[in-house]
Amino acid sequence: NLIMKSAQTIGVLVPNLGNPFFSMFIRGVQQTSRDRHFIPLIFGANHDEKLESYYLQELIKRAVDGLIIASASITGEAIDNILKKNGIPYLLIDQNGGPSVDRVRIDDQQGGQLAAQHLVALGHQRIAVVMPEHPTQNLLIRLDGFRKQLAELGVQLASTAVVTAAMTKLGGYQATSAVLAQKPTAVFAINDETALGLIRGLHEQGLRVPEDISVLGYDDIDLDEYVVPKLSTIHQPVVTMGQQATTLLINRIQDQRQPEQLVNLPVELRDRESTGPVK
Ligand code: RIB
Repeated sequence: NLIMKSAQTIGVLVPNLGNPFFSMFIRGVQQTSRDRHFIPLIFGANHDEKLESYYLQELIKRAVDGLIIASASITGEAIDNILKKNGIPYLLIDQNGGPSVDRVRIDDQQGGQLAAQHLVALGHQRIAVVMPEHPTQNLLIRLDGFRKQLAELGVQLASTAVVTAAMTKLGGYQATSAVLAQKPTAVFAINDETALGLIRGLHEQGLRVPEDISVLGYDDIDLDEYVVPKLSTIHQPVVTMGQQATTLLINRIQDQRQPEQLVNLPVELRDRESTGPVK
């Protein structure tokens, strides 16, 4: 019998399909979906709130069995009105820090701490951070971990040292002169794409990474090992995040009454070539 009672579909909303971080996430979603005989419907809404709620509505019309929401612009209100009202199981993750029964948590506080420890161990004291002007909750926690660890190690992060940029390669590239104005010896870019754009910009200014300036990223996207210099970063287990989010969601779809499920995933430093000792 080819006709199933439920269509066995889950909807997945991510902010930006162009970022390998989210394509790696989706790889994990697909693997687990296939194992559990579900099909994911995937949308990237590029931070466009209207588009996101459009996709949300359409997915519900098509009787999707559950949703994984990684994009932040879906507000608590939309979730209450659309998802809760219709009794649709969902899981919020990554940029969407809103409340959901089941959670896959990645330790952003620890990620920020590891970043600070690494740069300070290399002797850096003048450090700049590049991050978006309106950061999501996970990024704020990342920054908090970074700042607190620096303070514990006796290093102050000047308020001017937080340079704002869109969290993309172009954003990182365009932030180059604002970063250099801070005269840092090291930069913590809030994600790898930003770091890669910045490294391009620094190269065009005649600066060598890491000899003149160190750049540390965050995520560990697959590109990191193919650029020159290889990018040092904080690894997020993003494929596992996708697998675990899918596992928890499908468990929930299959048994709405089970107790809440929580998975904690660790982050790790990947010490490659773009960070080095202070001159
Ligand atoms: O590259 C995308 C970034 O935004 C990642 O650091 C991820 O955690 C997300 O919030």
